[in-house]
Amino acid sequence: MAEIETDVLIIGTGPAGSATAALLSSYGIENMAINRYRWLANTPRAHITNQRCMEVLRDLGREVEDEAYLHGTHQDLMGENVFCESLAGEEIGRMKSWGKHPLSRAEHLLASPCHMIDLPQTFMEPILYGTACRRGTQGRMSTEYLSHKQDAEGVTTTCRDRVSGRVFEVRSKYLVGADGGNSAVAEAENLPFEGQMGVGGSMNILFRADLSRYVAHRPSVLYWVMQPGADVGGIGMGLVRMVRPWNEWLIVWGYDINEPAPEVDEEFATGVARQLVGDPELEIELLSANTWTVNNMYATQMQKGRVFIMGDAAHRHPPSNGLGSNTSIQDGFNLAWKLAAVLKGQAGEQLLDSYSTERAPIAKQIVTRANQSIGEFGPIFEALGMTGGTDVEKIQAAMDARTNATPEGEKQREAIRDAIAFKKYEFDAHGVEMNQRYRSDAVEADGQIEPAFEIDAELHYQPTTWPGARLPHVWVFEHDTGDQVSTLDLCGRGKFTILTGIGGEAWQDAATKVGPELGLDIKVHVIGPRRSIVDHTGDWARAREISDSGCVLVRPDHHVAWRTEAMAADPVAELRRVLTKILAR
Ligand code: FDA
Repeated sequence: MAEIETDVLIIGTGPAGSATAALLSSYGIENMAINRYRWLANTPRAHITNQRCMEVLRDLGREVEDEAYLHGTHQDLMGENVFCESLAGEEIGRMKSWGKHPLSRAEHLLASPCHMIDLPQTFMEPILYGTACRRGTQGRMSTEYLSHKQDAEGVTTTCRDRVSGRVFEVRSKYLVGADGGNSAVAEAENLPFEGQMGVGGSMNILFRADLSRYVAHRPSVLYWVMQPGADVGGIGMGLVRMVRPWNEWLIVWGYDINEPAPEVDEEFATGVARQLVGDPELEIELLSANTWTVNNMYATQMQKGRVFIMGDAAHRHPPSNGLGSNTSIQDGFNLAWKLAAVLKGQAGEQLLDSYSTERAPIAKQIVTRANQSIGEFGPIFEALGMTGGTDVEKIQAAMDARTNATPEGEKQREAIRDAIAFKKYEFDAHGVEMNQRYRSDAVEADGQIEPAFEIDAELHYQPTTWPGARLPHVWVFEHDTGDQVSTLDLCGRGKFTILTGIGGEAWQDAATKVGPELGLDIKVHVIGPRRSIVDHTGDWARAREISDSGCVLVRPDHHVAWRTEAMAADPVAELRRVLTKILAR
C-alpha cells in the first residue's frame, strides 16, 4: 500500500498546477501538488495576464484578484508597444496594444469585470500556490515525479524526495500532469501530439538597470529592437521587456537553433543589453540568463483514463500573444470543477472526457496563433529591407531609405505602417483571449445554431449565451444595496447557476427539487424589478438572448451549459434531463 493517499495528485506548481490545486482546495477536494524544485518560478517568464485569466482569479476570491492587481503593472503602462532601432535610437513605429487604444479599451471594459495586467510569473505563482496551500493543498517542494501506473481504481505514482533521496509512492484517484513543456507524464502516457519542438532558439537575459529616460514617456511592456541581423532564430528580433517599471528588464534575443546554444555570461549579457538599449556605457546588474527553444506542438488528446495533462505539458509554443500561462490557468478552471463533481459523486466519470474534448481544440488554436504571430513579423522585416542577407551596411541603408522624399520612400513608409498595424493579431487579439466556445457532452445546445462571428473572431470578443460560450459579462445591481455586480459574480465558485427573469420563478422551484436529488447546490438568480438583482440598464436583457421566463444554466467555469428561450412545460423534468445528461448520470 502507498504511504500517501490523496484524491488528486498534481505534478508541477507552475501556473497550471497551482491554479488547479487552488481551485480543487476551494471546492473542498483533497489534493497534493509537487514540484521538483525547492521553490516556485525563479524567472519572470509569463507576464501578460488577460481578462479571462483574471476572471479565474476573481472566482477564487476577490482577495486573490486584488493581490494580483497589487503586484501587477497597470494596463495603462502596458501598451505603447514600440518598434525602434534601439531604445536610445530612432523609433520606427508604435502599435497601441493590450487594450491601450481607446476603441480596444472600450471593448475590454464591456467584456469583463476584470482588467488585463502585467504580472510576472514570479508573482503569479506565489499567489496561486499560496491560495492553494492556505485552503488545504498538501504542497511538497523538492519532490520529483518519477513514474506512475494507473488501474481501474486509481493511480500509483512514484516520487523522489530530492532532499533525502527517499523514493516513495502516492496513491490518488486522479493524476494531473502540469509538468511543463518536457512533460514526463504526457510521455509516460504516450499521449498523441502534433507539430515540432525546437523550431527556434532564444535566450533570456534578466537584469536591473534604470531605463526610465528611454521608456517612461512611452510606457510599454515590450520594446522591439530592429537591428541588422535581428531576424535570426528565436522570436525574430531583439526584445527588451519590462519586468518592473522601469528598472527590471528581460531581454529576449534569438540564436541560430542549428548552432549550439551560446554561453550567456556577464560580458555577453552586458554586450547584448548595451546593443539593444543603444548605450555603450550602460551598466547592468545581471540577475540571471538562460536559453530556451521555440516550440510548435500541441496534444490532440489531453487525457488517458485517470491521467490528465494541462498547460505547457499539452500546448508548447512561443510567448507571442502572451497565451501560455493564461491558457494553462484556464485548463485548470475547466478540469477542476469536473474532478470535484465526480469525486463528490455528483457526476459520472464520463464528464471527465469533456475536458480533452473542450480544451484540446484550444491547445491547437493557441499554438497555431502564437507561431503564426512570429511569422507575421516577416512583413516588418521586409518593409524595412532587413531580409537581404548579412551585409550590415546594406541593411542599414535599406532601413534608412524610409526617410527619403521619393515615391519609393513613401511606399516603404506605408508598408512599414501596414506591417506594424497588422501586429494587432499578436498584441491586441482580444477575441483569441475571450471567444473560447466549447462543444462537448458537458454542454447541451439542443440543436441551437451557433451564432456566426460577425466581426473578426481573433480580434474582437463577441458575447453570446449560446451553450458552450462563456457567459457574457454585464453589470447588474443588488436590489438592497445598489452595488453593481457582474453577471459572472453571480455564477461560479464551484456551483451551477440559473439566471432567469420575472415569470421564471418556476426554475427556482425546479432547482430546489432537482438540486438535492443530484446532490447539487444550484444557485438561482431571478433578475428584474423588485427582485434581489436588478437590471437597471437593460444590459442583461440585451445580452441574454432569451425571454424573461427562459433560463440560462451556467457551469461552475462560467460557460453556459444550457439555455431555453422561455418557461418549459415541465421545468423540473427539463432541468433534470439536462443536468443528468451534462453530468453523465
Ligand atoms: P511550467 O513550466 O510553468 O511549470 C511546470 C512545473 O512542473 C514546474 O513547477 C516544474 O518544477 C514542475 N515539474 C516539471 N517536471 C517535474 C517532475 N518530474 N517532477 C516534479 N515537478 C516537475 N505566458 C503568458 O500567459 N503570458 C506571457 O506573457 C508569457 N510570456 C512568456 C515569456 C517567455 C520569455 C517565456 C519563456 C514564456 C512566456 N509565457 C507566457 C509562457 C508561460 O511561461 C508558460 O506557458 C507557463 O509557465 C506554463 O505553465 P505550466 O504550469 O503549464 O508549466
